[in-house]
Amino acid sequence: MNVLGIETSCDETSAAVVNEQGRVFSNVVYTQIARHQPYGGVVPEIASRCHVEALPDILRRAVDEAGLGWEGIDAVAATRGPGLVSSLLIGLTAARSLALRLDRPLLGVNHLEAHLYSIFLTPGAPQPADICPLVILLVSGGHTCLVRMEASGDYTLLGQTLDDAAGEALDKGAKLLGLGYPGGPVIEKSAIGGSPSAIAFPRGMKLNQPNTPIDGFDRKLCFSFSGLKTALLYYLKAHPETTTSPEQMRDVTASYQEAVFDSLLGPAEAALKKVHPRAFGCAGGVARNARLRDKLNRLAKRFHIPLLLAAPEYCTDNAAMVAALAAARAARDGFTDASLEAQPNLSLPLA
Ligand code: KG4
Ligand code: ZN
Repeated sequence: MNVLGIETSCDETSAAVVNEQGRVFSNVVYTQIARHQPYGGVVPEIASRCHVEALPDILRRAVDEAGLGWEGIDAVAATRGPGLVSSLLIGLTAARSLALRLDRPLLGVNHLEAHLYSIFLTPGAPQPADICPLVILLVSGGHTCLVRMEASGDYTLLGQTLDDAAGEALDKGAKLLGLGYPGGPVIEKSAIGGSPSAIAFPRGMKLNQPNTPIDGFDRKLCFSFSGLKTALLYYLKAHPETTTSPEQMRDVTASYQEAVFDSLLGPAEAALKKVHPRAFGCAGGVARNARLRDKLNRLAKRFHIPLLLAAPEYCTDNAAMVAALAAARAARDGFTDASLEAQPNLSLPLA
């Protein structure tokens, strides 16, 4: 089954054709970053206008590059949430029109679940049935959580961030440092050659309190970045020369990035100890980072389990993961999902 997927939840306009085995025939992504950069973050009105302008051509290219023709498309899928409502509506409306025109079924996809599926897209990656139970660390611009995946479509939320998401911590840090948007890639570039241990920024929550649950979650499996962000703010007040000294900037960005990643790895390690999964996965935009990928690799090795990482192009928002999830779900359950309302605050479908 070949699914044409559409992703327009935030600032990437993307269309892809993928089958139920996760074979990617095409994945075309137009990133709007340059359009939002002057404003230091995503502007919803600009995002939706860009989706309207870009989507027709992106769709045509995705179908052309797949080489299957429009008649080779068996179903159409689009992200229905979470995301910016005005942007979600563009993708959903396009998907609805195409499904009608092609006389094909239509599927609405949860963006967070699609990120989880990105780890199965790399050629040679195992399928969920072969490797579950899995612990997956989801690290995007809007979400940071630890998920236990029991089987395709069967998830338990083990812990989540109590304040910012990891990507948000990088984006806000870059803003404080005057490095621009989006923060993750600019900090990664600036950190090259810097010392990750030059400044001792705080890591996550202090665990000196009794281990009482927070919002029903084991405290050890939750994340926090607010102390880290404040520490950077105070550091910059005490060291205003940072922004004009390339050498110091390298050390500060390397140390800040390291603190974000260590804050992720602590709870991830606690989850691996608690769950004893067959494998460990990491998905979402922040998982593009080479330093984080290296640290995740070392963690998985210590637990003697395989690490499933999405290829870099499938970490940040893309339609391949949307189509892959839709194809897998349709192969499993058929076309039962009729919910195509845009849901800006959708959360993971939990068992
Ligand atoms: O998954 P994603 O594309 O969108 C959301 O669903 O949020 O993630 C975007 C986030 C941004 O915060 C961005 O700064 C971060 O991913 N990011 C990175 C890198 N590339 C993107 N963070 C660290 N290193 C990168 N290379
Ligand atoms: Zn995303």
